[in-house]
Amino acid sequence: MASNPNPASSASASAQIPTQSVSVSSSRNSSNTNVHSVPARWRVRAVHDAAESIIGQTLVVKGWVRTVRDQKKFAFVDVNDGSSLTGLQVVVDAGSPAFDSVSQLTTGCSIAATGEIISSPGKGQTVEMKATQLQVLGQCDEAYPLQKKRHSLEFLRSIAHLRPRTNTLGAVTRVRSALALSTHDYFSRNGFVYLHTPIITASDCEGAGEMFRVTTAIPASERISDIPKTCSESDNNPRVDFKQDFFDRPAYLTVSGQLSAETYACAMSDVYTFGPTFRAENSNTSRHLAEFWMIEPEMAFASLEDVMDNAEGFIKHTVSHVMEKCDEDLQFFDRFIQKGLLEKLKVVRDNPFSRISYTEAIELLKTANKPNKKGKTRFEFRIEWGSDLQSEHERFLAEELFKGPVFVYDYPKAIKAFYMRDNDSGDTVQAMDLLVPGIGELIGGSAREERLEVLEDKILKNGLDPNSYWWYLDLRRYGSVPHAGYGLGFERLVQMVTGVDNIRDTIPYPRFPQSAEF
Ligand code: 4AD
Ligand code: MG
Repeated sequence: MASNPNPASSASASAQIPTQSVSVSSSRNSSNTNVHSVPARWRVRAVHDAAESIIGQTLVVKGWVRTVRDQKKFAFVDVNDGSSLTGLQVVVDAGSPAFDSVSQLTTGCSIAATGEIISSPGKGQTVEMKATQLQVLGQCDEAYPLQKKRHSLEFLRSIAHLRPRTNTLGAVTRVRSALALSTHDYFSRNGFVYLHTPIITASDCEGAGEMFRVTTAIPASERISDIPKTCSESDNNPRVDFKQDFFDRPAYLTVSGQLSAETYACAMSDVYTFGPTFRAENSNTSRHLAEFWMIEPEMAFASLEDVMDNAEGFIKHTVSHVMEKCDEDLQFFDRFIQKGLLEKLKVVRDNPFSRISYTEAIELLKTANKPNKKGKTRFEFRIEWGSDLQSEHERFLAEELFKGPVFVYDYPKAIKAFYMRDNDSGDTVQAMDLLVPGIGELIGGSAREERLEVLEDKILKNGLDPNSYWWYLDLRRYGSVPHAGYGLGFERLVQMVTGVDNIRDTIPYPRFPQSAEF
């Protein structure tokens, strides 16, 4: 079968350019003798990419109308199909049969426009289309909420099903997709195996208890009294009987794929997961979601330094990829969302990331927090060795002191998860966080405790039951190796690259407390 030269229906749509119209068999009569020629459908992005080289060609563009200007002798229609920030200007001459459809055009309606690509005298585009045919595919009435004016991102969240039709959310969606692709590209180039870890789990990886329950006990019953319990109704403190639940034990949505990734790293050497994770923390901040995507590489025979190197390479790779592939979108963000964004991204791409120990970070923060003449200190939260860094501390380090990404490593044992490898000094673990300007923590990772007895002891000291972790402990029984890994919050990466202030605008349908409508 001949390959399909139509860019809009081929995999690498934006780059391919058909040189002539396609011969398509009539659907009513598929005999080869009865073929007719119809122009190919092009994505708007492909038209702009090809620009002058396709002047004179006739083609079809399909999309949604952003604006219509009817100026008696001509109508100008801005069509956008989501493939690029800039739509295609379709010019309809009053003398053309296409003009009959102009009166039906409204903002938001979907159309198919056929015409010749001509050089554009207008600003902001090299070419435009001179329409010979115009067909309204789906009408759109005046109740359409995205009439031509600027809408706040808060308002757009209330119409999450329509917001990808706006410039900002369209650009975020393209950049997010490019970041995901370059993630797979980076790990594949570095010999990692892509792993799907379970979404339903019985273990709390981070030990923070912020997990959503997965159960069929409740939906099966309309009444609380019908939930299976371990003791009689008369008992005034009945407990749910999980033996009767779907998995015969308490089950949850995963907070991290790490523990399962560790088991595979201890067989495949280098693996990574990229999937949804869930946290039932009641955080109404611009950096937290209840459902977010995490990229978690796990590397056998690796140290904390190795994972910092890997993380730095990963971020530089994705930033550089997006700067190359999504230039128009990034220019838009730089102009309308965060001034100076492109300069910041260049710093991330071109400069080595700083690395300091937690103890050094505390010293630097203490110095910065010396009271001024009026006795006022810079930070709201106290800084003392042993306590976790607050967002204000993390952002100060990345934004003001290091003016770029900074790894902080060797955290106090007491504030980190049970699986992190103890340092010989005893009071710290081989943990690292990557802090970036504008966001704070982008990555959390560590070397994993590979010594069986030490790990058993840490599990107990963290109030966990070693019996529930028997399979995890088996890794330390059967051919244990030093290994390390990290988790990167994908939406926070999208925030960093787009400059979008609120994490709720980086994912199609954000989940946060009291919000799961769409
Ligand atoms: O630091 P965290 O909790 O680390 C882990 O879960 C490890 N098990 C990862 C590993 O070593 N494989 O989370 C990792 C990252 C954070 O640095 C942050 O970017 C992101 O996940 N993150 C969130 N992103 C959005 N909303 C939330 N509620 C998030 N919680 C964590
Ligand atoms: Mg963390």
